[in-house]
Amino acid sequence: MYEDSPYPIDIREYLYKILVIGDLGTGKTSIIKRYVHNIFSNNYKSTIGVDFALKVIQWSPDTVVRMQLWDIAGQEKFSGLTRVYYKEAVAALVVYDVTRPKTFEAVPKWKADLDSKVSLPGGEPIPVVLLANKTDLQDASSGGLDTEQMDQFCEENGFLKWFGTSAKDNSNIEDAARYLLEEIMKREAEHAHHQEQNAMNDRIQLNQPSSKEGCC
Ligand code: GTP
Ligand code: MG
Repeated sequence: MYEDSPYPIDIREYLYKILVIGDLGTGKTSIIKRYVHNIFSNNYKSTIGVDFALKVIQWSPDTVVRMQLWDIAGQEKFSGLTRVYYKEAVAALVVYDVTRPKTFEAVPKWKADLDSKVSLPGGEPIPVVLLANKTDLQDASSGGLDTEQMDQFCEENGFLKWFGTSAKDNSNIEDAARYLLEEIMKREAEHAHHQEQNAMNDRIQLNQPSSKEGCC
């Protein structure tokens, strides 16, 4: 609450741990740097282990969201450490490089690694969005990404949605992040609602006379 505000305003704050994973050199760090600091560099400096970044968003007048982005090195692919890194994450972005088909072939493996090592408190898989990155390098002759095939791939592999992105041109990154946040908040509201209902059911049961009291 703001003490010197003429009106009492309750600010709600949320902190979300979000993973950014995918093969080596697909642009995970570049996407995060573009999203958080609005910068881009052509120099490639491979991430070692894991890096962190924080993006603070004024979601609505009374809601602030902090996105803690975990930038996991492509080198960590299915290493024993991913289980540690994934712990308590509420969502993920899986990134591949549209100019290197091998990075797309690895996408289902990253997804399987995620699903086997992390889930939401209710047990459902965490929401995951696929980023087809480096769209600025796609030449006109390749005709871009086939929307229908990509939609089908997402459906078959448990991705909520996909976005063609470019960290270089700053294209679609904000949209993808906003979409993922909406999905996270939707799930959190559902979870809170379930918990409220369970608590209410518990209270109802406590208030009911036990069979002993009811008898004779
Ligand atoms: P690891 O940390 O090794 O897993 O790689 P990464 O996924 O973090 O990739 P990084 O962001 O370091 O980018 C790898 C290279 O691709 C760098 O040289 C970037 O400049 C370049 N790159 C990243 N995103 C884009 C993009 O959208 N377009 C173009 N043209 N180059 C990009
Ligand atoms: Mg990196």
